[in-house]
Amino acid sequence: MEEKKPLRHLIEIRDLTVAEIDSLIALAGDIIARPDDFADTCKRKKLATLFYEPSTRTRLSFEAAMLELGGQILGFASQDSSSASKGESVADTIRVVEGYADIIAMRHPKEGAPVLAAQYASVPMINAGDGGHNHPTQTLTDLTTIQREFGTLEGLTIGLCGDLKFGRTVHSLIAAMVRYPGTHFVLISPQELRPPVYILDSLARETNCKCTESRSLDAVIDSLDVLYMTRVQRERFFNEADYVRLKDSFILDTDKMRGAKQDMIVMHPLPRVNEISVAVDKDYRSRYFEQAKYGKYIRMALILELLGLRQ
Ligand code: NCD
Repeated sequence: MEEKKPLRHLIEIRDLTVAEIDSLIALAGDIIARPDDFADTCKRKKLATLFYEPSTRTRLSFEAAMLELGGQILGFASQDSSSASKGESVADTIRVVEGYADIIAMRHPKEGAPVLAAQYASVPMINAGDGGHNHPTQTLTDLTTIQREFGTLEGLTIGLCGDLKFGRTVHSLIAAMVRYPGTHFVLISPQELRPPVYILDSLARETNCKCTESRSLDAVIDSLDVLYMTRVQRERFFNEADYVRLKDSFILDTDKMRGAKQDMIVMHPLPRVNEISVAVDKDYRSRYFEQAKYGKYIRMALILELLGLRQ
């Protein structure tokens, strides 16, 4: 009899070991190099995307990933179009959807919703972003981009700029990169948008990595290998006036890019609002659209891994 693999979820990036992350990035590389070899690997498997919050890249890249693996997709793209609008709980929704799908990706405005969902799920659950908390598959996308650019994830100086308080992509990226020795985090934000205390404390305890803070992008841009820009997260602010005051705190333009290293790269999880001027798109160091493309390949790798279908 075939041995049944234990059920695995991806709720936060620490659910994967460093070796597993590295091997997923390598698998994404194999898929990019030989897509035809993977075209039928998820035949007759179904992915459900349960998105209670808006998304373009994450949902579509999950769906494109499953389709390219020969699988099928179902799901909803907003809370309004699901029975959540009638008051159905996440737990009940999961118990129903697991009867229709082999793997589930969920985005939810409430921090912790995917971890709760995982307690009820008998199929793998993937956190596709929970409130201002975590976004592990964006982190896999980010790590793939960095690894393919520099050939390593160790010893890099990474500037994280913008909304480090509510930006879940930043929280997950920090949790991943602290495990790669020699990372130097440069946290660039207004005072009010510094990362949450639990993250600052964890960085302060870290001996493998270094962390510095700056209120000015100009002051530090020349030291960076990666500049990771983020959007000020309007939907997580308690009042509009604070958002309006802080939204344009940092704008990367061609002028600022003159101060950066020749081999620095600019990343952004997207969507962009104002924080990167459109003129920077033409700079040979911008990588945000490539980054979005890698999102599909690393999600293909993740789906294969969680379904136990890696050859
Ligand atoms: C991010 C998110 O949803 O957290 N987008 C994404 O998934 N690529 C970033 C953001 O919304 O600012």
